[in-house]
Amino acid sequence: MILSIESSCDDSSIAITEIKTKKVLFHTKISQELEHSVYGGVVPELAARLHAKALPDILEKTTAYFPSLKAIAVTNEPGLSVTLVEGVMMAQALCLSLDVPIIAVNHLYGHIYSLFIEKETHFPQTILLVSGGHTMVIEAKGFDDFRVIASSMDDSFGESFDKVAKMLGLGYPGGPVVEKLAGEGDAHRFNFTVPLYHSNKIAFSYSGLKNQVRLAILELGDSRSEQDTADICASFQRVATEHLLHKLKKIFKTTKIKDFSIVGGASANLYLRGKIEKLCAEFGATLHLAALEYCSDNAVMIGRYAIDAYHDKQFTDYSDITSNPKVFK
Ligand code: KG4
Ligand code: ZN
Repeated sequence: MILSIESSCDDSSIAITEIKTKKVLFHTKISQELEHSVYGGVVPELAARLHAKALPDILEKTTAYFPSLKAIAVTNEPGLSVTLVEGVMMAQALCLSLDVPIIAVNHLYGHIYSLFIEKETHFPQTILLVSGGHTMVIEAKGFDDFRVIASSMDDSFGESFDKVAKMLGLGYPGGPVVEKLAGEGDAHRFNFTVPLYHSNKIAFSYSGLKNQVRLAILELGDSRSEQDTADICASFQRVATEHLLHKLKKIFKTTKIKDFSIVGGASANLYLRGKIEKLCAEFGATLHLAALEYCSDNAVMIGRYAIDAYHDKQFTDYSDITSNPKVFK
């Protein structure tokens, strides 16, 4: 079995996965959303202190598995350095006391492997990764054979939902609340412009759209009603998604894509899922999605990647875990 740890942002999560069957034997995740909500975003130092309490609490429930462990997997990048180190230190302590190797896992590789939890891998795929930190299109040809073909020049898709929610005083994380309110609003009330629409660049940008939302909120001032807020959410969500769709369509037109998938926390957005389903149908591609519970950060996806890394003997020296990080091509 592999014990995996995830602490790259505001979720403390530990999982146990059986190497041979890929079955998830244990998974617990403690989210810190409530604690960060009042600040409208994740406060790194607070997150680190909460991990220092939550991770040992979860670990205590896994001791019965310790004699069966063959490796400890841990997210070592990218993420908040002060929270990553909480998981890394726990992995180092476990590795030394149980005498098993460490597998350091890139968090984004973990998101890709959320597609394969309790399943065989399925490559090649073209993958849209939409999380709080990243917006990328990745060509995944096989284990560790990932190439970024488009990425954001500034904010990410998920982050733009967080920032819009913060400006509207809706708390953190923004994605679920903005999506919910969007369902009650008029998506064509605000005519925000689609970012990079006239540019041939295959890239994403959300800072300009965020600014358009800021100006609309300013203009409404104190008289902003609940309906106004819902209309802003709906118009923003429509344009944020149209931007993704516009660039994805360009990629679909130039590349034959048989299998397409969406991963990352924002892949839980049903409006986005619906639009991409239609795009895939238009181009004859099959759409793959991770189970909803594994879209946001979790240790199960880290454990699933680690199974393939274990077979590939990708072990990391316990003292060298933060250096030589794996990066995308
Ligand atoms: O993958 P994830 O859990 O953490 C990172 O690796 O960043 O993604 C979290 C991000 C947050 O920005 C959150 O607002 C966004 O995913 N998110 C959503 C939705 N649910 C979560 N964005 C849009 N619509 C949603 N339904
Ligand atoms: Zn993530």
